Formats: sequence, structure tokens, C-alpha cells
Amino acid sequence: VQTQDIIHKKRLGEKLTDSEIGFIWDGYLRGTVSEAQLAALAMAIVFQDLDTDELTTWTSCMIDSGQRLSYADNPSLPLVDKHSTGGVGDKVSLVLAPLMSAAGFRVPMISGRSLGYTGGTLDKLEAINGFSVSHTPAELTRILSECGCFIAAATDDLVPADKRLYALRDVTSTIASPALIASSIMSKKIASGVKHLVLDVKFGKGAFCETYEAALTLARRMVGLGNASGVRTIACLTSMDRLIGLTAGNAAEVRESLDTLGGEGPADLTDLVLNLAEGLAELAGKPVSRAEFIRLLKNGDALTSFATMCALQGASLPLTLKAPTDTREILAPRSAKFEAPLAEGVARAAFALGSGRSLPEDDTDPTAGVTFLVAPGTYVHEGTPIALLETSRGANALDEAERYVYASLTDVPAARVADWIR
Ligand code: URA
Repeated sequence: VQTQDIIHKKRLGEKLTDSEIGFIWDGYLRGTVSEAQLAALAMAIVFQDLDTDELTTWTSCMIDSGQRLSYADNPSLPLVDKHSTGGVGDKVSLVLAPLMSAAGFRVPMISGRSLGYTGGTLDKLEAINGFSVSHTPAELTRILSECGCFIAAATDDLVPADKRLYALRDVTSTIASPALIASSIMSKKIASGVKHLVLDVKFGKGAFCETYEAALTLARRMVGLGNASGVRTIACLTSMDRLIGLTAGNAAEVRESLDTLGGEGPADLTDLVLNLAEGLAELAGKPVSRAEFIRLLKNGDALTSFATMCALQGASLPLTLKAPTDTREILAPRSAKFEAPLAEGVARAAFALGSGRSLPEDDTDPTAGVTFLVAPGTYVHEGTPIALLETSRGANALDEAERYVYASLTDVPAARVADWIR
């Protein structure tokens, strides 16, 4: 077999066999298939797609490039996890992982960093003084058995094929393929050892998939792939035109997560967390009522789980957050009803303050963030403080963010959609 014949076959839209896909991955990992050849094949896949059989084989080849994690300490506690395709102000993981652990589930959550306008769970957690996202598999196993959850970075050995292919896709305009996205996300989830997975697939102006249809296609591919690979998977399609909760950025999102873990969070964020928690518990065969999850938020159990997890991951108690050097209050430009801000403007404001990165090797500012000070639906008078900007990157960052915050204001109420794909 010649690599170029396989690329040619896919370019014509023909189905690749298991052995052809195996040949490509084996060669790529050993150095006999070049970066240029894999990039060419990726481009052929962008145009011609992979069918379900091809996608399953492609994904398992990626998983086999590294080590699978496993946690066999207590089989009666279901291993559950959640993945979001990325929202603005999406701090659901910070609340959901400790909440599920407080309800008796195990949550070994491997998370990522921000890139572009999408926030990164790991960057947010690093706003907590002392918190470390890097742990060995043995440490992760111990943290999981001691507090029921962790949120950490992928170990070097978790799907190394994806690290290489993702970097290649990033520079060859081959990110936007449902098959390549689904295999990239699901290979990491399957290898991370979870057994039940809920996906939050976002659509709208603040999301990677702009339309509902694109999100539906991606959700179906990921659900199919998870179920075919032994991870029971469901997806919730949720709209992402407005900010989730009232904060976007690093420290600001941690503060709001702490409020939500204590049962005092904004209604839209709490609702999203509870929907996903209920879906996940039911999927794992141990249904938990919404009222019970609310009780775990109100009685401090979820907050205790979060604090225990943070302490086991290096933070000192009581938890403290990194403090900004520069802050500014934004005043309402006119008297009007305040409604959930437009996601795009808020994402740009948080990015300007330093919460995002343009290149994977850039640093983010842990103190960066926007916090809106008014609940949606409230009438505010001109000149009332409506938002707080925080950064350690100086006045220019504040000036730029201020313009984007004004651009994010709207008096149209948000319509939030959530549909399940099972
Ligand atoms: N996130 C991933 O991990 N991979 C993709 O391809 C897209 C988003």
C-alpha cells in the first residue's frame, strides 16, 4: 500500500478499510507517513467525511497511540464526566464535578485550556492560589478516591496522536470537520476511563457551531462514537448566544462558581448545571432528583467537595483568588431593562482583559474577567454600575474591554434552548 493511494481514495470520497486507517496511523506515529501526508488526508476528510465505521476505527487508532487511564477503586461508584464544546462564561464543569461527587458519583475530569475566545477550565482553576492542574496518574487516582472528583490537565500519554493532529489541523484549516472534531474530543474522553458521559454541545453566535443543525450533526457523531466505544453518551444541545451566568474570565468565573456551588448562583447557570446533572445521573443508572441536587448545593456538600478537591490539588484553605492590579466599573449608558449580555461582545471583552490566548504557548491573566452586577430582567437607570472589569494588564486592556462590554448590551430577553440527543 502507498500512503498517497489512501489519500487519493479518500479524496474521491471512497470508504477506507480498517487496515488502511491502521496503516496511516501506524506510519504517522512511526514517522513513515509525513506531516504533509496526514494534513492532505485531513483535508480530504474535511470534504468527504468519514462514515461511522471509519470514524470508530480512526478514533481507536488515536486512542491506541497512548495510555488509557483506569480507576478501579470502587466499582459501585459510577465514573461520570461532562464535556462542553465551549461556551462564553461556561463554568459548568467547576460546579458540576463537585456536585456529582457530593451525590455519590466519581468524576475524573480531564480538561483543557483556553484558545482564542473559548475559555479554559484549567486557566480558571489556576486563578485559585496554589491550585495545580498537573498530576501523575497515581496522584489522580488518589485524589479521585479521597474526594470523588478532580479537574486536571491531560497527562502526556493521553492520546498523544491528538496533540500532534490538532496542532497540524490548526495550521492547515482542517479543524472544521465533524468527524475530526468528534474523534479528537471523544478519543480523549474514552481514553480517560469514564463510563458515562454527558456532552453539552453549544450552538449560536458565541459557539464553535453557529447553527443548530451543525451542532446536531456533531452531537450525533459524538454520541454514536461514545456508545460504540463502551462509554454511554448523551448530548444536550444548548443555545450560546448569551453569556452563561454573569461572569466571563478566570477569577471572576471561579467566584461565580463558588456562589453557584453554595446554591446562590444565577438562575440560568444553575439550571444548566442541574439539567446536565440529572441527565448524567439517569444515564449512569442512579437517578437523582432535581430537589436532591438543589439540597446538595444549599447544604454546603457540593461546596465542601470543591474545597476538598482544590486542597488535594494543591490549594490552601480557605480558598483565595489571585487579585487584579487594575479594575474599572462600567456604568449603564442609558436607562433600560438589563438582559443577558450578547456572548460575542463579552467574549471579546474577557479576551481583551487577558483571559484568552492567541497561540497555545501564550499565558493568560488569571485575574482577568468581566462581572455583570445586575440580574437579567432588572430595570437600570443611566449611570448605575452594571459591570466590573478586572485585569492585571493595565488601562489599555480596560479601555478595549469597556468598548466590547457596551457592544454586548441588549434589552432583548434571552431565549435559552436545551434539547437532548440520546
Ligand atoms: N476540541 C478538541 O479537543 N478537538 C477539536 O477538534 C475541537 C475542539
